[in-house]
Amino acid sequence: MKIAIGNDHAAVELKNIITEHLEGRGCEVVNFGTDTADSFDYPIAGYKVARAVASGECDLGIAICGTGVGISLAANKVDGIRACVCSEPFSAKLSRQHNNTNVLCFGARVVGSELAKMIVDEWLDAEFEGGRHERRVAMLSEIEQTQALSAAE
Ligand code: RB5
Repeated sequence: MKIAIGNDHAAVELKNIITEHLEGRGCEVVNFGTDTADSFDYPIAGYKVARAVASGECDLGIAICGTGVGISLAANKVDGIRACVCSEPFSAKLSRQHNNTNVLCFGARVVGSELAKMIVDEWLDAEFEGGRHERRVAMLSEIEQTQALSAAE
């Protein structure tokens, strides 16, 4: 599996830890984040991770900033991206099973490295369940593509 990873200055160390963890799982990791402590605008990394996933260059993405919030907002602006901020493994797992998330975000100032690894593992090990969830995810795409939702009219 090929994973796009991205981060701002707040998350360089955690990005490196998660990269090593992903490689230990046999993943190929493509780095779209910064590698220095110099101030770095999180939308750049969020956008690059999202673009890599939406284009098919990478299978999934992981994006880390201070809280995970800003970088998830950036990623979600790209068509086809379903990014979520998860600070614990349960939501990460369910976000794959029910929402078919394709970018996982968390905050380096929020979660420690061991918790972050658990969040990543639960997310990667889960699979989209389809069924009734397929219809709901399709609604998200409809909103994205048309700025309207027929089921809400
Ligand atoms: C950077 O100071 C911080 O704002 C950023 O890492 C992130 O938390 C934004 O959502």
